This record gives sequence, C-alpha cells and structure tokens, in this order.
Amino acid sequence: MRFNITKEPLQEAGAQITIVLVADKNFDHKWIKHKELLKSLNFKGESEEAVLLAGEKYLYVGVGSFEADELRIAFAKAYKLLKNTAFTSAKTALYIKECSKAAIIGIVEGFTLGSYEFTRYKTKKESPKLEEVVISLESFNEGMIDEKTAADIVRQAQIIVGAANYAKEIVNTAPYDYTPVEMAADAKALSEKLENVTCAIYDEKFLEAQGMGAFLAVNRASAHPPRLIHLTYKPKEAKKRVIFVGKGLTYDSGGLSLKPSDYMVSMKADKSGGAAALAILKGAAELELPFEIHAIIGATENMIGGNAYKPDDILKAKNGKTIEVRNTDAEGRLVLADCLVYAQEFKPDLLIDMATLTGACVVALGEYTIGVMGHNDNIKHELYRAARKSGELVNNLSFNRYLKPLLKSNVADLSNISSSRYGGAITAALFLDNFIEEEYKDKWVHLDIAGPAYVEKEWGYNQTGASGAGVRLNLYYLKELAKEGDK
Ligand code: BES
Ligand code: ZN
Ligand code: ZN
Repeated sequence: MRFNITKEPLQEAGAQITIVLVADKNFDHKWIKHKELLKSLNFKGESEEAVLLAGEKYLYVGVGSFEADELRIAFAKAYKLLKNTAFTSAKTALYIKECSKAAIIGIVEGFTLGSYEFTRYKTKKESPKLEEVVISLESFNEGMIDEKTAADIVRQAQIIVGAANYAKEIVNTAPYDYTPVEMAADAKALSEKLENVTCAIYDEKFLEAQGMGAFLAVNRASAHPPRLIHLTYKPKEAKKRVIFVGKGLTYDSGGLSLKPSDYMVSMKADKSGGAAALAILKGAAELELPFEIHAIIGATENMIGGNAYKPDDILKAKNGKTIEVRNTDAEGRLVLADCLVYAQEFKPDLLIDMATLTGACVVALGEYTIGVMGHNDNIKHELYRAARKSGELVNNLSFNRYLKPLLKSNVADLSNISSSRYGGAITAALFLDNFIEEEYKDKWVHLDIAGPAYVEKEWGYNQTGASGAGVRLNLYYLKELAKEGDK
C-alpha cells in the first residue's frame, strides 16, 4: 500500500473515498457530513464501530481517543470494510494538533498491519484492491506539520510494521517448509539485502566444538540439522551493542515428553523468538539506528525417535553447567542457555532474549501480553513505555528468592524444570539466569512471547495466527534509546 502526503484540505485531495474518524459523540466536526444518516443507522462513534456509506463515498470510524493504538485499530477496521469493495484509493486527515505524529503512525501502521494476509498456501490468491491512501495534513490548526516531516514519519512507520509483517510470514510458514536450514537461508538473504549487515551460519560441528551440549541434545531426533544463526548490523558509529537472542524451534513436538495432539497444533510458531530477532535486525538496519545490533538464533526442531534425548539424560551446556532433563518439552531453555552463553562472548551492553518459552506465561498474563523478566527495573520500565507507544502489551513478572531453589537437581547442577507446578514462566527465566554471567545480570531481559506470538483468532489489527510479537516493541524501544543518547 502506498501512502501519499498532501497539503491539500481533505475535501480537495484526490481519492475515491473519504475516511473520517468520529470522536465526538455529537458528531460535531466539519468533516462529518452525514450526521442524520449516521444517526439513523444508529452509529454512535464508539471505539471499533464503523459505517461504510459506499454510495456517498464516505467511511466513518469511531474512536475512543487519539492514542496511536486506538488509531491503529480504527484504520485496520477501515481497511477491513474497504477490502471487499472496488475502491482503489482512500483519503483521510489528521484530526487534532496534539497527536499529529501519532495520527500518521496510526494511519500507516493500522493499514499496513491490518492488511497483512498469509496467502502462501492458498491456491486462489485475491490481490487487494486498495492501493493508495492519501493523508491530508489539514487539521483544526493549520500548518502544524510539514510534508517532509510527515513523509519521514510514514517511512519509519512502514519500516517498523514491515518488519512485524516479515516476522509473521516466517512464523505462519508450515514446519515442513520452514526448517533451521531455511531460517538460515532467510538470514543470509537479509544480510545480502541490507547495508552494514553480515551473517554467520554455524552447523552441528561448530555447536560440538563450542560445547553446546544442551542445544545439540534438543536437535538429536530431528531429521533436520540445527543452525546457529548470527547476524550483525554494524553502523559506522555505534553507541551501544545490543544483542537479541531468539528461540528458533521450527517445530516443538515436545520430544519424548510428547505434547497431547491439541497442544501440538500451532507449535510451528515456536520459532517466533527467532523470527522476531531477524525482523528487529531488519528494521533496525533499515532505520539506520546508531547501535551495533546482533541477532543470535538457535534454530532446531524438537522431535521424537530412537536417538531422541530423554528425561533422565544429563547434558552439559557451553558454560560447563550440567542439566538434568526431567521433561524434554522444556527444550527452549536448553537451546537458549547455550545461545545466551555464546552471546555474552560478544560483550553486549544490552542482552534481550525472546522466546515462546512457557504455557505458564499465557496462563499468567493471557494470550495478548508479553511477560517481561529480568534483574534491571530500569530497562523493564523503559520497555513498558516503548510497549505503550508500539501498541504491544507487556507485563512484569518479578523474580523472588523462593522460586530459584525450585530448579535444584539431585544429580546435576540444575534441573530443566521446576519442582513446583506454579510460577512456570518465572522459573523458566530463572533457569536462563543460570547462564547469565554476573557482569551481564543487569544487562539482560527475557521476553516470554508465548501468548501473543500466535493467537488463533483476530484481535485488534492482528490477524488469526502470527502477530510478529516483540518486533514493534523492540524497534520502538531502540528508537527511544537512540533519542536518549542524543540528549
Ligand atoms: N513451546 C512451549 C511453550 C508454549 C506453550 C509456547 C504454549 C506457546 C504456547 C515450550 O517449549 C514448552 O513446551 N514449555 C513447557 C514447559 C514445561 C514442560 C515446564 C510448558 O509450558 O508446558
Ligand atoms: Zn516444549
Ligand atoms: Zn518450545
């Protein structure tokens, strides 16, 4: 979809249909031309309410506020109504001065996120008719934003949601087609397209040489070899080194601790952390952010077979710690343990891992919210603020001294599962904490994206399936971090 900025008033801008947001319940705005008609249709202008007056060439969408996420939802709704019409262009305008930037972001991100469709396996593909959205800079207060600034906001928003949609496509792809080798090929392709990006791909021999016994064990029964993917974006003058580590389980059957059938469906999405890491690197490079950014992904399947790793096995991770396997379905933490140890060798100023790690996180926070864990309250707070801007939902799950001992093992340094059935999201993070060196404790944050990464129903501007969880959140966070450095 193309977005064109114009200084022309909304009325005069050239497009086939006009989209007007309705915030005022009295319909008191010069752009609301069909007051009586709207009333007779019982349209109240409430959030997520929309009316298409196709004959009049007007589309009215209700909003509860002018916050960016409310606008994203509104424009995604507008897209949904226009999708089945023949209109190829639409126009809309900024509404009030205070949120001019948020308005542009809402328009671009709402349309672009809302119009994503996963069609790879559909034999009949319908091409979308709506091609162009004209954004008029007219508002109550004239002259508050120039065309150049507006165009730049559009460009940045397109990069951010483009990255989220890129992650969705990876996550939605079937496990037969998306293996660790395929993920590595995608990473390589990214590095060839992007400036200042390099890519290293490592196979099982490297993992062995590195002593990554935990990662290797998870891969053992898979017909597909594992890959450690390491992408680096290095701009000229980098202010900080930020490393993203992603869980890239291209399929999680549970292993010998096999998942029940109903729970196995959708486990193609267990690569969402890895997909997010790839997408963030893509977005950061396109935005030319002033940080050295790494994406490190542990890609493997977790399968069954005669050579599968077993409950009772004892593994040795890259940092020398031994792990008693008590459940082969707690595999993500094993892969991440080795990847996190590897990541710290590159001396990060900030280390963020993303993983569809636990069902317990979904139980704790619901399907739509990312669980944030770590020792550094400042980073967690900043992530919370970035989440508000990005529209993603996060919540803090705090560590405490009583949960840590639950990972004790009688035969090894630690067990891969907790001895308690409660607090599973936090104990999983505390498992990872065993692989974070003292020096990096305060630089590390763990994001459990098990809920929002893949939801089998539509929500807001998200389609059923993958949502690109973690991508917008971290790109907004990095953008804020870049501003901070400018002060
Ligand atoms: N990939 C799953 C977690 C998951 C569950 C992601 C639901 C998305 C939706 C993970 O590998 C897993 O199976 N975790 C176990 C841990 C348990 C064995 C301690 C779980 O959550 O049940
Ligand atoms: Zn699992
Ligand atoms: Zn898993």
